[in-house]
Amino acid sequence: MSLLIAGNWKMNGLGNQLEDIRAVAECADANPIVDVLMCVPSTLISRAVQSSAGRIAIGGEDCAPDAAGAFTGDISAEMLKDAGASVVLAGHSERRRKYHETDVMVGAKVTAASRAGLGAIICVGETKDQHARGDALSVCAEQIAGSLPQNLEPCSGSAIAYEPLWAIGSGQTPRLDEIAKTLRHIRGCLRTQIGEQEGAMRILYGGSITPDNARGILELPEVGGLLIGGASLRSRDLSAIIRVADEIAGQRSTGLCKAATCEIEQLAAERLVAPSSGLAFDPVARFANGWVSRNVEVGPFSWDDPPIYEGPIQLFRDAAAQAGFSDSELERSLGPVPQFIAHSFSEAAARWLGAEHLRRLEAKAASL
Ligand code: 13P
Repeated sequence: MSLLIAGNWKMNGLGNQLEDIRAVAECADANPIVDVLMCVPSTLISRAVQSSAGRIAIGGEDCAPDAAGAFTGDISAEMLKDAGASVVLAGHSERRRKYHETDVMVGAKVTAASRAGLGAIICVGETKDQHARGDALSVCAEQIAGSLPQNLEPCSGSAIAYEPLWAIGSGQTPRLDEIAKTLRHIRGCLRTQIGEQEGAMRILYGGSITPDNARGILELPEVGGLLIGGASLRSRDLSAIIRVADEIAGQRSTGLCKAATCEIEQLAAERLVAPSSGLAFDPVARFANGWVSRNVEVGPFSWDDPPIYEGPIQLFRDAAAQAGFSDSELERSLGPVPQFIAHSFSEAAARWLGAEHLRRLEAKAASL
């Protein structure tokens, strides 16, 4: 899964700020590896969808637990979906604190999001006092246990956002080692809570992100992306962060690609001993060997290479199509942007190898 850069406009934004959405969408277009989401006030959702022309995802900031009924002023997950949102924030600390939302209420909203087919970004994090007492891990664990439905099957785009309350809008952030430690802990809690499905959820960091501190945080392997408040209101700042994230996501993919290739070679060596299974496997193994040596280390790949590569090329095309790229964009990117292909390859390999395998590859990639 690529990195996600998510903006949260909170109670900010009028129609005349849709220009910023357009600018962010253009930046996302030019930086295709990273995923971009803008969570905006409900009044702007459908216009933001139009302004971004499908190039970024648009999300809501909150939803009611019920689908419809006598709840004056509330907006349901189904209504957000109808307006064009694909994701909704749940349990942002401002709602937990200012509107007294409990874990149980947040859990009901997450269930509502899933019912409507929206991804839910569930926010957790400790106060300044809890941080000072060394309680960050236990607070996050408790919030996850209380806010995540036990049998949750996360919709696409679902994530946990770790947002320490004392870091939001304060200009302060935890140390990098603290962020890494907390995110590892959250990953463990997720596994306990929803089992294998945990692999489908990113873990984001949020709180006083700026173009200056984004790189250090995004370089932590535990971080699956950022949830950004203030800086997301300034398209120039957000675009700078998107560019950094795209670069880092590309580097991660290249590492994954190399690790996947090692793995494929090893598997191929094992399986090619048996001729019956070897036939199916051989083209992928040969493609992977050839492709990496040509594109990552040596030079460009040629579409005229023997038909033995057709199956693997189809994998790339599928991965690219799923990521929203046309064949011509894919071909264009073969020469000048090998990182994109590395990304496609790692995504394709992930689907082909399965989640468990992917985790092993990630560990291997980190050690390369
Ligand atoms: P800031 O980036 O302004 O600190 O806000 C973080 C946040 O609350 C995002 O949801």
